[in-house]
Amino acid sequence: MTYQADADSPADDGPTHPVFTTVAEGDLTLDDHEAITATLARAFPSYDHWYQGARSWAGMQPELRVIARAGDVVVAHAGIRRQFVTVGDVDQLVGAVGMVAVSPILQGTGLGTGLLSSVDDALSGLGVPFGLLETGEAVQGFYRRHGWEPLDEVTGHYNALTADGASTLVSQDEGWLIRPRGADREAWPDGDIRWNGQMV
Ligand SMILES: CC(C)(COP(=O)(O)OP(=O)(O)OC[C@H]1O[C@@H](n2cnc3c(N)ncnc32)[C@H](O)[C@@H]1OP(=O)(O)O)[C@@H](O)C(=O)NCCC(=O)NCCS
Repeated sequence: MTYQADADSPADDGPTHPVFTTVAEGDLTLDDHEAITATLARAFPSYDHWYQGARSWAGMQPELRVIARAGDVVVAHAGIRRQFVTVGDVDQLVGAVGMVAVSPILQGTGLGTGLLSSVDDALSGLGVPFGLLETGEAVQGFYRRHGWEPLDEVTGHYNALTADGASTLVSQDEGWLIRPRGADREAWPDGDIRWNGQMV
């Protein structure tokens, strides 16, 4: 089954048809945080010790969530936060994207495609020239299919994700991707990325 997962999906398609919304962090309820946390723990089993209760983030807390719900259940999610990162010697505004996830039982049904389409809209709505994320080799193909472009020979330095307080600096040599939105690909500065904090 392939879900028609777009933001304009009519709500009366049926009780389990996923519907996308974009929600500001400050508008999330405790129930929302708990529902997101449960989905993230299932989608990222290696990090499920961080996604507990209502702690719906593992590094930097997002400012915006893209969420697909089927009834009360969150079935897909992405977090976004505007911030400056240092690229070479330039302070570059980005929409940092992370916690991109589809519920395991619905993976491969098209929800991820709908999710990245909604992320594109959200990045445009935030007025950032680029989306930025880091991901493992196995998932890079998914992002490339949806317009994300790899940054070759770029190292990114960031503080490790941890719910436990101060975190050590991590240097990651690959897996950085940008999504041009309000700017051309060529406008991305040369050089390594200094995140200067935790990622979303
Ligand atoms: C990665 C993830 C979000 C993709 O969502 P999904 O709902 O399974 O993806 P879709 O069904 O919409 O697939 C969209 C397209 O991407 C492709 N695709 C999906 N995962 C892929 C992967 N790992 N590598 C390459 N292509 C992939 C699909 O084949 C499909 O291609 P098609 O449109 O030609 O058929 C989902 O698998 C997931 O949550 N994984 C676990 C968490 C994770 O790794 N998140 C990313 C962390 S940065």
